[in-house]
Amino acid sequence: MRNELVQKLVEHQGEYVSGERLSESLGVSRTAIWKQIEVLKKQGYQIESAPKKGYQLMGRPDGLQEHDIHLYLHTKRLGQSVSYYATVPSTQAVAHELAQAGEPEGHVVVADEQTSGRGRFGRNWSSAAGTSISMSLLLRPALAPENVPPLTLVAAVAVTRAIEKVTDLEADIKWPNDILLNGKKIVGILTEMQSEPGLANVVILGIGINANQTDEELIHDDRNQSTSLATEKGELINRAELLANILEEFEWLYDAYLKNGFKEIKLLWEARSISIGLNLEAKSIHGTVTGRSVGISEDGALLVEDAQGITHKVYSADVQSKN
Ligand code: BTN
Repeated sequence: MRNELVQKLVEHQGEYVSGERLSESLGVSRTAIWKQIEVLKKQGYQIESAPKKGYQLMGRPDGLQEHDIHLYLHTKRLGQSVSYYATVPSTQAVAHELAQAGEPEGHVVVADEQTSGRGRFGRNWSSAAGTSISMSLLLRPALAPENVPPLTLVAAVAVTRAIEKVTDLEADIKWPNDILLNGKKIVGILTEMQSEPGLANVVILGIGINANQTDEELIHDDRNQSTSLATEKGELINRAELLANILEEFEWLYDAYLKNGFKEIKLLWEARSISIGLNLEAKSIHGTVTGRSVGISEDGALLVEDAQGITHKVYSADVQSKN
């Protein structure tokens, strides 16, 4: 009911809406409305109450709770239910547990802060409180395990499209899972699966975004310089709006991938990619390939041509440019 209440207050932003009207439209008592208003105030909503007039929303926190996200959400399946944590070790871990407990596809785990965020190759991922976005989306795609890795690329296209929609910033994709602005990392994607032979039952798509951090709050490591959307844009961004847009973009791209494969999405991916035509070194569990990236395959592998002219298909690797 709190979601609907926030929705109503937002619809009437700039004017008072009476407790009676709210209680009628939401089908609950005026006391229940008052109690929920008190909860919202504690969460940072600025709500004025005036006798005989009712309630007026004056300001909202930049929250990531279900009701914040639902204000902007226009999806059919993804994100209809959200588990929100003010702080959690890793949204990825929670999503895996929920999947095992039978939570259906589309559920999203969101946190304002992660204390042990996971990156690729067992690295840490830092998610600062109140300024980053940490989300894990639960999917049940019924794909063969080898068809799961391109979902990272599908997600990268969805995230760059959503960033452009919400901030007007044109982000670049670095194969397979980094999103950069002006050469600095703003988003990391981690795709994990629970599979049985021949079938990926569950995919947990983890997305970490540097949204509103200042430069001092960002952790720069020697592999990657980082930046945040706010630093690049010069103004704070609405995290819930961005998250909802990512789900909306991902929903149609995911459906297209399940129906038609990667072929069409590959064109969208290539248009945003900065990973083609580079001299690079790709380190994976299968070894290191050095050469020039000449494209991606229709199953999402990076094609690297070595000095002997042999083209290698690299499915998952840590890629460093060698120019
Ligand atoms: C990477 O670039 O190495 C991937 C980083 C992925 C981080 C996200 S934040 C939400 C989700 N929860 C985690 O613990 N990790 C992913």
